[in-house]
Amino acid sequence: MASLNPLLSGAERPARSTLLQVGAFELWPAARRLRLRGKPVPLTARAFDVLAALALHHPGMASKRALLAAAWPGLVVEENNLQVQVSLLRKLLGSNAITTVPGHGYRLNLPVSGGHGVAVEELPPPAAPLLGRDRDLADLGDMLRQHRLASLLGAGGVGKSTLARHAATGAAAAAGLAVVWADLAECAGPIDVLETVARAAGADDTAAVPLARHLAQRPCVLVLDNADRVAGDVAGLVTALLAHAPPVRLLVTTQVRLHLPEEQVYRLMPLAVPPAGCTLQAALQYGALALLQARAHGHDHRFALTEATLPIAIALCRELDGLPLALELAAARIPALGVTEVLQRLCDHWLLLKTINGNGPARHRSLADTLEWSFRLLDPPAQALWCETAAMPPWFSLDDLMAHRGGSDGAATLDLLGTLVDRSMLTFEAGRTPGYTLSACHRAFALQKRSAHGAGTPVSA
Ligand SMILES: Nc1ncnc2c1ncn2[C@@H]1O[C@H](COP(=O)(O)OP(=O)(O)O)[C@@H](O)[C@H]1O
Ligand SMILES: [Mg+2]
Repeated sequence: MASLNPLLSGAERPARSTLLQVGAFELWPAARRLRLRGKPVPLTARAFDVLAALALHHPGMASKRALLAAAWPGLVVEENNLQVQVSLLRKLLGSNAITTVPGHGYRLNLPVSGGHGVAVEELPPPAAPLLGRDRDLADLGDMLRQHRLASLLGAGGVGKSTLARHAATGAAAAAGLAVVWADLAECAGPIDVLETVARAAGADDTAAVPLARHLAQRPCVLVLDNADRVAGDVAGLVTALLAHAPPVRLLVTTQVRLHLPEEQVYRLMPLAVPPAGCTLQAALQYGALALLQARAHGHDHRFALTEATLPIAIALCRELDGLPLALELAAARIPALGVTEVLQRLCDHWLLLKTINGNGPARHRSLADTLEWSFRLLDPPAQALWCETAAMPPWFSLDDLMAHRGGSDGAATLDLLGTLVDRSMLTFEAGRTPGYTLSACHRAFALQKRSAHGAGTPVSA
C-alpha cells in the first residue's frame, strides 16, 4: 500500500486508482508505479514517496516535515536523507524539476494534472490520541458545520491546538474538504500573517483579497493556529475570507477573541478531574487522569496507577486544575519522584512551573513560559489586576474585588475582569458564591510577578 503522507486527511489523498500526470511521467500513487511513455521507470521506494508527496502538494510547496513523514513514516531521520532523494529525483526528472524553498521545503516545477494536487501545509502529526474530549470534539464539529468562523478560546496549554487538529480533520473529511493549517505563533504583524497563510495555502499572492480568491477555489477547513498575538491582523484577513471565500470554513485557536460579528466562540475548559472516592476503572474515564496515566506510563513503562495511588493521583489532577500541559509536566517528574512526592512538591509550584518540556514549542517549554506568554498578551492594567486577585482569598466575589480596590474606577474594573475571564486567567463559576478564582498555577505565577514588582505598584510586561 502506498505510504502517501499519512498526515493528509482522506479528502486530500488521491483515490486508489488516481493517475497523476507529472510532466511527461505517469505517477500511480496507490500502485506505486512511475512510467514514462508506457515504460516503467525504476525508482527507490523513498524517492517514490518523496515524488508522490511533491505531486500531491503541487503547485504549492511541500514542507520538509511533510516529505520526511511521507517517505519515513513514524521515523526520525536526518534531513540529508531527504536531500539525497531529491537529488536522485532531479537526475531523473531534470535539474530544474524541483525547486528548493530555503529553510522550508521543496516545490515541484513540472505540470501536474489528473489528480487533485492540493496545496496544503500538512497537519502537525497527532502525537497521541485525543483523551477526554469526546464531547468537545462533537460540539466543535457541530459548530464548524453550522458556522463559517469558530474561535477555540482557552488558556495556554489547555489543549486548543490538539483539539483543533482532530476537529478540523473530522469536519473536513465529513464535508469532503481539505485541511489547510497555518501556525501563526511566530507572526508579529499583518504581513507575517498573510505570508504564513499564503504559504500554507500554496498561494503566490499574499494580498488579502487575492489570497481569499485563491482559497475560494480550494474548499477547505482553514485552521489559523495560535492567533493570540496577532488577533487584530487575523480579524482583518478573516473578514476578507468571509467575504471572498464562501466555501472556506475557519477555525481559529487563540487566547484573544477576534471580536467579529460572525465569530462563534468555543470556550475550551480543562480536562475533567474525577471526584474523590472514585474507583480506578471509573476514574480513568476522566480526561485528566487518563492523560496523567498515559504520559507517566510513556516516561516509564512500569508505571500503573493502583487503587492505593489513585487518591493521590486524583488530588494531583485537581491541584493542576486538569490543565493538560501541567499534567504532562507533572507526569515527566513521576519516574524520578513518584506520584506522592510530586503532589507534595507542588506546594512549591516552581517545581512544575520550571519543569522543562523538551519537545514543545518555546512557549510550552515550561509552564512558566506558557504563563509568561499569556501574561504578555494582557495590557498593563489587566496585568496589575490579575496580580492583585492572586493576593485575594481563594474564591472571591465581585463585591470583594471592588472593596479590595477601594476607590478604583468600578466600570474599568468590570472591563478588566471580563478580559481576564476571556483569557482564562481567572475562572468564573456561574451559580457559585463567591464565583471567581485563580488556578493554583496561575496564583503561584501571579504572586511571583507581584512580589517581583512590589505589591501595589503597576506591573508591566
Ligand atoms: N485531549 C488531549 N489528549 C492528549 N493530550 C493532550 C490533550 N490536550 C492537550 N494535550 C497535550 O497537552 C499539551 C498542550 O496542548 P496544546 O494543544 O498545545 O495546548 P494549547 O494549544 O491550548 O496551548 C500538548 O503536549 C498536547 O499533546
Ligand atoms: Mg496551541
